[in-house]
Amino acid sequence: MSSYVVLGASRGIGVKQERDNKVFAVVRTPESAAQLHSLASTRSNVFTVKGDLDSADSLKASMTAAAATEVAGHTSGKLDVLILNGARITSQYSGMTLDKFPDPQSLEEDLMAGFRCNTVGVAHAINAFLPLLRAGAKKHILAISTAAGDIDFVREIGMGANVAYAASKAALNMVATQFSIALKPEGFTVLSISPGYVNTFTEDPSCPDFDGNPRTPAVAVSMMLDVLNRSGPGQSGSFVSQYGNKEWV
Ligand SMILES: NC(=O)c1ccc[n+]([C@@H]2O[C@H](COP(=O)([O-])OP(=O)(O)OC[C@H]3O[C@@H](n4cnc5c(N)ncnc54)[C@H](OP(=O)(O)O)[C@@H]3O)[C@@H](O)[C@H]2O)c1
Repeated sequence: MSSYVVLGASRGIGVKQERDNKVFAVVRTPESAAQLHSLASTRSNVFTVKGDLDSADSLKASMTAAAATEVAGHTSGKLDVLILNGARITSQYSGMTLDKFPDPQSLEEDLMAGFRCNTVGVAHAINAFLPLLRAGAKKHILAISTAAGDIDFVREIGMGANVAYAASKAALNMVATQFSIALKPEGFTVLSISPGYVNTFTEDPSCPDFDGNPRTPAVAVSMMLDVLNRSGPGQSGSFVSQYGNKEWV
């Protein structure tokens, strides 16, 4: 049985867990993670652990009560797969292009909050779990990204909004590539992957508030895990879609 950590797993895509493996769902507020609780109450393979992408101390292996320390205690210090799913996705400025922010301070705060969680937080999380991953069998790291972080795609569709999210995810892709280079001699596979357009508002694809044709979270997770399982060190460092290529929608 392989071991997985899914960081940011309270709801949406992150709460869709592997059935056949030991899964540690890391969430920042376990007490309010209702979707995760109902899943964990029916599955003996799912464990809830506290951890926050905005706080390196809540993650790192050397800290008592930090997420990596807690997982290590259940797995003899090993981990096979780390999935970085949690993200700061929207803010009060999401609808604004960069020239429309009310003042320099709000622009700086919004961008910095996006980078803190989606870029720096992910780098801290990878470092926190590295000692466990090095001792594990698979050495897989999957950073959940988005087509909004692909410069060519954003240019093509002219998407000039949700800047903090898009910029921090573009930077996340580079962080993943940088880790892939650093960890190449150790046989790691590090991918950043976009799940595509996923209905995380409800499991019911006929949700009246949702236009378009989004995938369910379960289908998106299965497609991404399929890409990961088909990948090896040769693909490490790439940023791909749920199809394993640059087809984003
Ligand atoms: N849905 C889509 O169509 C789509 C498309 C492209 C990419 N994605 C990517 O897919 C991933 C999941 O998105 P989703 O649609 O499932 O979003 P979601 O339903 O809004 O879930 C976001 C998750 O991130 C967690 N999170 C937020 N800030 C965190 C922090 N500081 N530390 C730890 N966890 C934190 C949230 O936890 P709380 O409950 O504590 O807030 C929640 O579990 C994201 O990386 C997103 O960029 C989604």
